[in-house]
Amino acid sequence: MHILLTGGTGLIGRALCAHWIAQGHRVTVWSRQPARVHALCAGAQGVARLSDIAPDAAPDAVVNLAGAPIADRPWTAARRRLLWTSRVNLTEELVHWMGQLPRAPHTLLSASAVGWYGDAQEQILDEHSPPPGHADFGSTLCQAWEAAAWRAQDLGVRVAVLRIAPVLARQGGMLARLHLPFSLGLGGRLGSGTQWIPWVHMDDVVGLFDYLLHHGNCQGSFNASAPGAVRNAEFTQALAAALHRPAILPAPAWALRMLLGEMAVLLLGSQRVQPQRTLEAGYRFRYPELRAALGALY
Ligand SMILES: NC(=O)c1ccc[n+]([C@@H]2O[C@H](COP(=O)([O-])OP(=O)(O)OC[C@H]3O[C@@H](n4cnc5c(N)ncnc54)[C@H](OP(=O)(O)O)[C@@H]3O)[C@@H](O)[C@H]2O)c1
Repeated sequence: MHILLTGGTGLIGRALCAHWIAQGHRVTVWSRQPARVHALCAGAQGVARLSDIAPDAAPDAVVNLAGAPIADRPWTAARRRLLWTSRVNLTEELVHWMGQLPRAPHTLLSASAVGWYGDAQEQILDEHSPPPGHADFGSTLCQAWEAAAWRAQDLGVRVAVLRIAPVLARQGGMLARLHLPFSLGLGGRLGSGTQWIPWVHMDDVVGLFDYLLHHGNCQGSFNASAPGAVRNAEFTQALAAALHRPAILPAPAWALRMLLGEMAVLLLGSQRVQPQRTLEAGYRFRYPELRAALGALY
């Protein structure tokens, strides 16, 4: 297959490029810095503009991952605009381009996040759950991002949206941020520690994208979130145990809210996510439980 990725130079994109290139697929990455693509995704070709792809060499499948990092900086008005344009507007441009091709790709796999569900306390969340009544910015953003991707269905394209949980990988994401404080013995639960934390091992993110690419009957939303969601206090203890360090310094909720504003929902919000449709579709998680996932990484 010829697979086009947006965000192919990122944490998930690099792992997917390596996986699909090893399988013998042809991979193109639409990037703001196409010159870096070769170094980051060996074997892939970088393009600066979609128009650089000849219509007769159009991709069979498109994988949409691009977006400015959501947890790097507080959500000021300017940051919200960037988070929005780099996901919603970029996806609109991508789908518009797909519609101009003589033959549209057969599949679009588009990233979203479990942030779609908002802060839902003890409620069990699966792909059939409705969007939250009062959506925070993260949820509103995911809803608009998904809506832009669904429009590709009007072109006859099979669309699958992956609502991704915080990814466990050593090279980046949540664990890379937590590693230093926890290694120094400065880790601890966040707020009350009772909030549910969804998570997914990087191998399962790659595994699920690959599964959905190769199973032409799979469409709709799929939670890329391990079945074994845990409470924050349990996550904290499991990570501390994996690193052989104590975790006794809790971060009070008020301090996180003061520091991060609305973005504190990423740390204090509760999301008891279950991958119901993902399991029904036949995908089997390599790491369904947290301790085994962390054990494999450390
Ligand atoms: N990692 C997680 O835990 C997680 C969890 C839930 C959802 N997700 C979502 O899944 C997607 C991939 O995640 P990731 O961790 O691989 O992300 P990442 O490492 O931050 O990479 C995202 C890619 O998006 C592109 N990008 C960044 N800023 C951009 C901007 N302002 N305009 C256009 N493109 C921009 C970059 O590609 P170029 O520099 O090549 O243009 C970058 O490599 C993201 O959209 C993320 O929100 C990730």
